Amino acid sequence: MSDIRERLEMIRRQAVRQMEEVHTAESLNEIRVAVLGKKGELKDLMKGLKDVSAEDRPRIGQMVNETRNIIESRLEEVKTRLEREKMARDLENEKIDVTLPARKAVIGHRHPNQIALEEVERIFVGMGYEVVEGPEVEYDEYNFTKLNIPANHPAKDEQDTFYINKDIVLRTQTSPVQARVMETGKMPIRMIAPGRVFRSDEVDATHSPSFHQIEGLVVDKNITLADLKGTLQEFAREIFGPDTRTKFRPHHFPFTEPSAEMDVSCFKCGGKGCRFCKGEGWIEILGCGMVHPHVFEMCGIDPNEYTGFAFGVGLERIALLKYEIDDMRLLYENDIRFLKQF
Ligand code: DAH
Repeated sequence: MSDIRERLEMIRRQAVRQMEEVHTAESLNEIRVAVLGKKGELKDLMKGLKDVSAEDRPRIGQMVNETRNIIESRLEEVKTRLEREKMARDLENEKIDVTLPARKAVIGHRHPNQIALEEVERIFVGMGYEVVEGPEVEYDEYNFTKLNIPANHPAKDEQDTFYINKDIVLRTQTSPVQARVMETGKMPIRMIAPGRVFRSDEVDATHSPSFHQIEGLVVDKNITLADLKGTLQEFAREIFGPDTRTKFRPHHFPFTEPSAEMDVSCFKCGGKGCRFCKGEGWIEILGCGMVHPHVFEMCGIDPNEYTGFAFGVGLERIALLKYEIDDMRLLYENDIRFLKQF
């Protein structure tokens, strides 16, 4: 009897000690199998009890059960401890330090062309103009004929046109949008038409086969050259600063009569002459004029009833001047180190 009691005691103590050192559910289960399993130590001990007398048997059975109960409840306790430890580990792993600085998001930059365009649009929309668009692939008729540039007119050569076929071109100017808007016959007209234009030019610091223009057109009764001057003066002051002076030089465009080019006083030197304005004190920024009566007729508008003015601005020219960039290629290369500055 005491021999068995001792063995049970040993089994229990050994199991409890082993359980104290356990760190995983797997090794805990190994202990359970080794002690309580079918081939475990307790079963083993029972097998050796065949010869025990019938009167001792209940006592021994009770002792074995007690040991088993103790070990089982201990196993339960350790299992709970292991689960708690695992949960703590998981929580630790999921921990987020909300005080860490956020990762910096890389955001894009507006292109100088886009900034200049939005500025021009803001100014004209503020004066009641509508922003309209026309096709980049255009009929020869709209790009030239309806703008008073007939076949064999030298302006056709000057503009180095890309032809799709004999009737269709990549527009060389945004002026065809004028003809398209006038043809709708809805009066009065106050519109600007920004967009891409194409000319078969070689790339250099001031040329590109594809660039952008902003066309402007106003048609109503009693529109005069004074309206043209006042409007474009106001535009120049808004875009280049309130001290900007303007100068209109006579020029020739087939679709306007009279025609002019507008210069602005150099906003760098104020007109004294500097490297920026090449010593001139003035910088040319746009072409303009009063809509030619023949253009009105070709677009179905009576030139005795209506008059109007038009202008065309190079968008790149505005962007280059505004940001003092001296090579147009920078606007097309889209080098992020360049664009980052805007
Ligand atoms: N289309 C002309 C060009 O590309 C610019 C221009 C000049 C537009 C005078 C106009 C204008 O509307 O009236 O050079």
